Amino acid sequence: MNHTKVAVTTAVAVCLTATAGAGLFAVSGLYNFAADEPHFPWVSATLETMRERSIETRAAKLVVPDLSEPGRVVQGAGNYAAMCASCHLAPGVEGSELSRGLYPQPPNLSKQKVDSAQAFWVIKHGVKASGMPAWGKSMDDESIWSLVAFLQKLPQMDDPQYDQAVGSSGGHSHAGGHETGGQNAGHGTEGHVMEGPMHSEEVQTAIQTHTHANGKVHTHTADPSTHQLRPASAGATASHP
Ligand code: HEC
Repeated sequence: MNHTKVAVTTAVAVCLTATAGAGLFAVSGLYNFAADEPHFPWVSATLETMRERSIETRAAKLVVPDLSEPGRVVQGAGNYAAMCASCHLAPGVEGSELSRGLYPQPPNLSKQKVDSAQAFWVIKHGVKASGMPAWGKSMDDESIWSLVAFLQKLPQMDDPQYDQAVGSSGGHSHAGGHETGGQNAGHGTEGHVMEGPMHSEEVQTAIQTHTHANGKVHTHTADPSTHQLRPASAGATASHP
């Protein structure tokens, strides 16, 4: 055998051994998939690079609309408080049951500014094997861009400014196809039931209802930690005139 042949044979053998080893490891059950234990550093690094590159590549094709259009930030605020703050927090809130328990941890978007196009892509499509849902299944693009407009302002907001933005928003409102946990398929109709993080009797008994100005009735399951993420005006007991 000449040198080239030896090198090629060795390379093939190494590859086969590595593949077989990886396969055995995969089926062995040794890798811990628990969310309360971090990945091995090389797994985290690989996943992170793949996720970042994937999002960057896809977001680069998006055309960001004018995010300063009137009404966007306020509409985004209402939807953020209703759908995102339980994981991504709000000014003055350090953590929630959901945010603490998730791995990877949801970034605190009241402290961290995000790139507009990338945020849109992530909100619309979600992130695999993380708690981040694909909101595009229930929300139209315009409502997602309004959330992005709000996210650009959020890190500069303090507690009262956040409450005010959410309070003036009319709460949870967006267009798009809906299939929520409730009987009604749509937030635009009279009322719907939002499925909250139900995990105990105490949470289930804390189901709260509030009525919006337009007569919409919202029922939330409010656990004590996510409850405080909602400002008084969109809060569980509020009944708007
Ligand atoms: C159940 C928890 C959960 C909810 C609810 C949730 N997210 Fe996320 N979100 C996550 C997690 C976890 C990540 C991080 C994913 C990762 O790092 O792989 C994330 C990532 C993101 C990112 C990317 C941040 C960055 O650093 O680039 C944005 C933007 C985002 N979410 C916006 C939203 C918006 C807007 C909503 C509401 C419509 C929302 N999320 C609702 C869990 C959630």
